[in-house]
Amino acid sequence: MSETIGFIGLGQLGLPIATNLLNTGYSLHVYNRTASKAESLVAQGAKLMDRPADAVTSGGIVVTLVWDDAALESVVMSAGFLEQLGPGSIHIAMSTVLPETSKKLAAIHAKHGCAYVEAPIFGRPEAALARQLWIPFTGPQSTKERVRPILEAMGAQGIFDFGEEAGAANIVKIAGNFLIVSAGRSISEALTMVGKNGVDPKAVIDMLTSTLFSAPIYQSYGKRIAEKSPPFQSPIPLKDIGLFKRTAQQVEEPTPIANTLHDLLQN
Ligand SMILES: NC(=O)c1ccc[n+]([C@@H]2O[C@H](COP(=O)([O-])OP(=O)(O)OC[C@H]3O[C@@H](n4cnc5c(N)ncnc54)[C@H](OP(=O)(O)O)[C@@H]3O)[C@@H](O)[C@H]2O)c1
Repeated sequence: MSETIGFIGLGQLGLPIATNLLNTGYSLHVYNRTASKAESLVAQGAKLMDRPADAVTSGGIVVTLVWDDAALESVVMSAGFLEQLGPGSIHIAMSTVLPETSKKLAAIHAKHGCAYVEAPIFGRPEAALARQLWIPFTGPQSTKERVRPILEAMGAQGIFDFGEEAGAANIVKIAGNFLIVSAGRSISEALTMVGKNGVDPKAVIDMLTSTLFSAPIYQSYGKRIAEKSPPFQSPIPLKDIGLFKRTAQQVEEPTPIANTLHDLLQN
């Protein structure tokens, strides 16, 4: 497996995923705005580049995993990026962003003769290291055979093809995160009520998550909340509930639960 992949965005999730690619045998050209975050990868053989465009190999594959829509757009529009990609190459964009951003970027890539594949990720950094990610993806049919083994090498335990329409994979991701955040808040509220009324929250969560709520999200968040482990300190729920609201409101869907969650997360 001698293919060189460009990898841009070595944050909390990018770093373990890029490490998995290296460990699977791919060569990496990496770029990160803060170059020092690439040190561990460079020590394992990755080549650190000065600009996003330098991480791109003409006709090759480049992966981006940056924070949000603005960061993704700034990488794509940075000097030389699209020109360097050119015909036959594929950009696998893995950030959680608005579907409309995906549509816009897919059209810009098509104009440059290259393919835009969106593949947002379900799974925290620990899940990436344990190769337990779930990845929905969308993109031109012609790219799929080439992209699948790369997603597997990144640590996907399951890959779900949502067709060719740009934006679809991010709709899946945003809906999933809305459900995860809703579940976390509901569990917390339920167990507070339970505890304040003198019943053991751990016993309650054990019963519920081994019967009617035997799903990974309820089990992991339930255990954490029942044990009063520190809450996840992450700006991701606020960002992604914002994306959910904007996406729903574009098709004039009211979002009462998302509005409540957004208010709670802001406080
Ligand atoms: N962490 C998770 O558990 C998780 C799970 C599923 C999906 N996601 C999604 O994965 C994506 C990355 O999340 P993360 O947790 O890895 O975030 P993170 O740790 O905050 O890293 C963000 C990355 O984006 C880069 N970046 C930010 N603004 C930029 C800009 N304007 N130009 C260039 N690069 C920029 C950062 O560079 P610097 O290092 O220079 O700041 C860093 O490499 C997000 O879309 C997130 O929603 C995360």
